[in-house]
Amino acid sequence: MSETIESILEEHRIFEPSSNHQANIASMEQYKSLCSEFSNNFEATWERLANEHLSWKTPFSQVLNQQQAPFFRWFEDGKLNLSDNCLDRHIAAGSGERNAIIWEGEAGEVRRISYHSLLADVCRAANAMRTLGIEAGDRVIIYMPMIPEAAIAMLACSRIGAIHSVVFGAFSPQALRDRIEDTGARLVITADGGGRRGTTHALKPNVDEALSEGCQSVERLLVVRHAGNDIEMNSQRDINWHEALNTEADYCEPLALDSEHPLFILYTSGSTGKPKGILHSTAGYLLWARLTMLWTFDLQPESDAFWCTADVGWITGHTYSVYGPLACGGTTVMYEGVPTYPDPGRLWKICADHHVSVFYTAPTAIRALIKAGNEWPNRHDLSHLRLLGTVGEPINPEAWMWYRNVIGQGRCPIVDTWWQTETGGHMISPLPFATSTKPGSATLPLPGIDAAVVNENGEEVSGDGGLLVLRKPWPSMLRGVWGDDQRYIDTYWHNFDGRYYFAGDGARRDEDGYFWIMGRVDDVLNVSGHRLGTMEIESALVSHPSVTEAAVVGRPHDIKGEAICAFVTLKVEIDDSQAEAAAAELRAHVTKEIGAIAKPDDIRFANNLPKTRSGKIMRRLLRDIAAGREITSDISTLEDQSVVQQLQRAR
Ligand code: PRX
Repeated sequence: MSETIESILEEHRIFEPSSNHQANIASMEQYKSLCSEFSNNFEATWERLANEHLSWKTPFSQVLNQQQAPFFRWFEDGKLNLSDNCLDRHIAAGSGERNAIIWEGEAGEVRRISYHSLLADVCRAANAMRTLGIEAGDRVIIYMPMIPEAAIAMLACSRIGAIHSVVFGAFSPQALRDRIEDTGARLVITADGGGRRGTTHALKPNVDEALSEGCQSVERLLVVRHAGNDIEMNSQRDINWHEALNTEADYCEPLALDSEHPLFILYTSGSTGKPKGILHSTAGYLLWARLTMLWTFDLQPESDAFWCTADVGWITGHTYSVYGPLACGGTTVMYEGVPTYPDPGRLWKICADHHVSVFYTAPTAIRALIKAGNEWPNRHDLSHLRLLGTVGEPINPEAWMWYRNVIGQGRCPIVDTWWQTETGGHMISPLPFATSTKPGSATLPLPGIDAAVVNENGEEVSGDGGLLVLRKPWPSMLRGVWGDDQRYIDTYWHNFDGRYYFAGDGARRDEDGYFWIMGRVDDVLNVSGHRLGTMEIESALVSHPSVTEAAVVGRPHDIKGEAICAFVTLKVEIDDSQAEAAAAELRAHVTKEIGAIAKPDDIRFANNLPKTRSGKIMRRLLRDIAAGREITSDISTLEDQSVVQQLQRAR
């Protein structure tokens, strides 16, 4: 990023919200009155919203049960079905003919799926899963490209109470195997392949490879024919999705499930160990997916076409490509392909062709498209856009201004939304027709969300940077780490005696109380808005037979936000002429272990890594070296001082 964090913090521009009396939250007064309703009567406000916004089969008897905190339970004794709320309910209200999904493939093919037809597909898929013996509580892995069948599979799971775990299609067979084994899934739903940059990338062969070792729990594989590439089908195990669905009835009664019935597990990286399975449950997640669609994106289901560019393999894709828009009866746009294919105008062409009115993407994509030049957006009619959002990483003011002026043509409010896999939905964000915005700030917590910046003792700090915490539970909060209660407590509730949820981010509040997110304070990297644990990449590197030790840090990157820099010691000595080949081999190895998104940008070899006398790797020093900055760490405690020069020289 060309702007430093200091310059972002000195940003003083303010943009007043435009007035829109029709907006779901139409003024600062309305925002404030909702916030005070929560502070005066927290539970009664959630009760009101849950009753107004969800369709219940059995009403709940208790709003929030804190007896086993931090294992909170919301809307106890209530029963409902998520797919019923996302489909049947809108059809019953007369919106069956509305497009639920508009999908476009990379080659330009388009599918428009109405609520009626989506319900029929979801029911067939649910019935097909039942025929395969899948029952409520069983885990189902979804490893798919960005096609409607991914959403259909997710909704079908929710219809019968199966717990889905979507694995991003670019994760390696090894990463897929880890997730299958951790969830103990009985069924995997995949496709033959997906389309990317005019070619096909294989998915089914990756599943075959993942299942070739361990994964004893998997009984069946449902395979969507999509890319048309040759694949082998194991007749004992694999079933063609379309054939399986064709023989099923197009109605399946939605199962009335407990509010707290687990809905999905989504793996995300932390600072230690393997990625953890973040568990979300039904009612609270659904409520917040719907409310944030209505509040942050001001969704008007009858008229908006909403496009969130995230893949369903990430939380943003779960909440804002699938569940949020459908929970409101809106139209969600899905695109399978590369944003710059066949040219950097592709996203803007899709916005024009499908009359996208609310558009949501990551700062990385914005920065890449700025580089491509204004001629690309200028070629397309962006007049349908009325609101723009960003997510996943801090947005630098320069990119924010470009987004506002060039894409939004000065007309569209920008919502910079801060949240996490664990929070299920937005926590801190402007409300587009209520909040004045400042480029680079996520502004204020949403109503009902008690966010604060505190010091290590949990005391609120103003002006200075501190740790971002959430002080009250919220309905869409994670319910735990799959199979590891202790890890849930240790990761999120350890720091402030269990009183506050610790997000892992640093932040600062300015004189107006606005939040400025400063990035992770733990060993988690944010590369192109994707979260990666340094330890995960280090473990992948040391699993290569020639590696003795590895340390991974981030360094600033213009487009990606952060780049991955690995410092490696090898078992054998290599000279400079061999370094490039060795680095290429290690990159390929990390791709095989995790996936291409974790591939280090830089690999530097040295005889030793810089360690203190007590044997701790000096990460701050490595971060300075990686960024080419002056060294600010005290290196007097460094055991072998010559290693610093060696690492500075190494490439
Ligand atoms: O560091 C914060 C950053 O992304 C992290 C969460 O990553 P993940 O669980 O993968 O979810 C990403 C999409 C919700 C956070 O801890 N982050 C997310 N949104 C923002 C952000 N950093 C700054 N500004 C944001 N708007």
